[in-house]
Amino acid sequence: MSKRISGFSKLRKEEKIHWLAKTYFKDQEETVKVIKKYWNEDEKLQQLHDDFIENTVSNFYLPFGVAPNFIINGQEYAIPMVIEESSVVAAASLVAKFWSERGGFKANVISTTKIGQVHFMYAGDKDLLNSYFREVKEGLIEATSDITKNMRKRGGGILDIELKDKTEKLDHYYQLYVSFETKDSMGANFINSCLEAIAKRFRKEGIEIIMSILSNYVPECLVRSEVSCKVEDLGGENPQKFAEKFCQAVRIAEVEPYRAVTHNKGIMNGIDAVVLATGNDFRAVEAGVHAYASKSGEYKSLTHCSVKDGIFKFWIEIPLALGTVGGLTSLHPMAKLSLDMLQQPSARELMMIMATAGLAQNFAALRALTTKGIQHGHMKMHLMNILNQLGATESDKKEIAEYFDGKTVSHAAVVEKYKELKNE
Ligand code: MEV
Repeated sequence: MSKRISGFSKLRKEEKIHWLAKTYFKDQEETVKVIKKYWNEDEKLQQLHDDFIENTVSNFYLPFGVAPNFIINGQEYAIPMVIEESSVVAAASLVAKFWSERGGFKANVISTTKIGQVHFMYAGDKDLLNSYFREVKEGLIEATSDITKNMRKRGGGILDIELKDKTEKLDHYYQLYVSFETKDSMGANFINSCLEAIAKRFRKEGIEIIMSILSNYVPECLVRSEVSCKVEDLGGENPQKFAEKFCQAVRIAEVEPYRAVTHNKGIMNGIDAVVLATGNDFRAVEAGVHAYASKSGEYKSLTHCSVKDGIFKFWIEIPLALGTVGGLTSLHPMAKLSLDMLQQPSARELMMIMATAGLAQNFAALRALTTKGIQHGHMKMHLMNILNQLGATESDKKEIAEYFDGKTVSHAAVVEKYKELKNE
């Protein structure tokens, strides 16, 4: 029997769920029950979520956690994080506390320029195209004046339009390369609307517009965060050895792509969690970050480290195109709450907060990897997940956690201990 359907989007929510249950599940009743269990009782709130996308049938929960004790440029923050990976928030909290006792994080925004392109084909004379561009350039900016009016009031807008000749890469291919300042909004809609207006005005016989779209490659929307302290203040048994080993781990990720990808994945554990919590676009951030990590032609670490004259320094430089107004940031009540928790930051402040969350996460991972190994902390957090799966009570959990204190946690060992406790 075919599982295809036409007009699915026109069905009511209940009908969609029943069709799904009937078509793809064995236990239809149970399927409907699970889907509905995650509906919000508050109908208005549920409607808000239903309307974010097409064909919504339910909600998908992820934990919303908080990592307190971050100090960034002297300001205290509790950072909201949405993530399912058990150790991420705990690691961020530990590292925040560690560096809060050593001067905190210092961050600065390097640049905030975003790019959009009108891609077009032109087979005619290059000089004619150049003079046509010079002739209409002011008019292209003028064509966006209604769209850019409010943005200009906020100090943003179109910074420049350049004509780029790409014919060496692809026959007849040119582009209008437009740079934007979008202040506190991520600016995707704004940029795309401007580009479409520019393309419309630019159109002429002989010019075939292919598409107009922003770029998620944002190497000029760049932020840096760093920590530093005297090597001796790093603590532990042998801080010099720790600092050197830690820096070697970073250098490995600077030269070895297999390691760099995992190293940067750990950074993104911290960043994506804040991107999600604040209602930003994690796909855009991910795409831009990894492209930046490959800007030299080889995929490299986004963090760097030095030990010089007795000073340990660890920093990140990362492109982040974010918004603190517009889009989901004002629509999703939890995104709004996250931004309130962060004291309603500007987009520039949010860039510094996120870069810091990424740096903190990378510090936690490298500290664990170069000392006790990663599984020690991971499995500790995993212990609670395993116990929850086993249906352990709060007192079981307490007793088993005490038993595993100082011992290696493995799935099999936890199951065995649990069974023993339950006399099975
Ligand atoms: C796991 O989610 C992230 C790490 O693998 C990062 C790293 O290896 O640096 C621990």
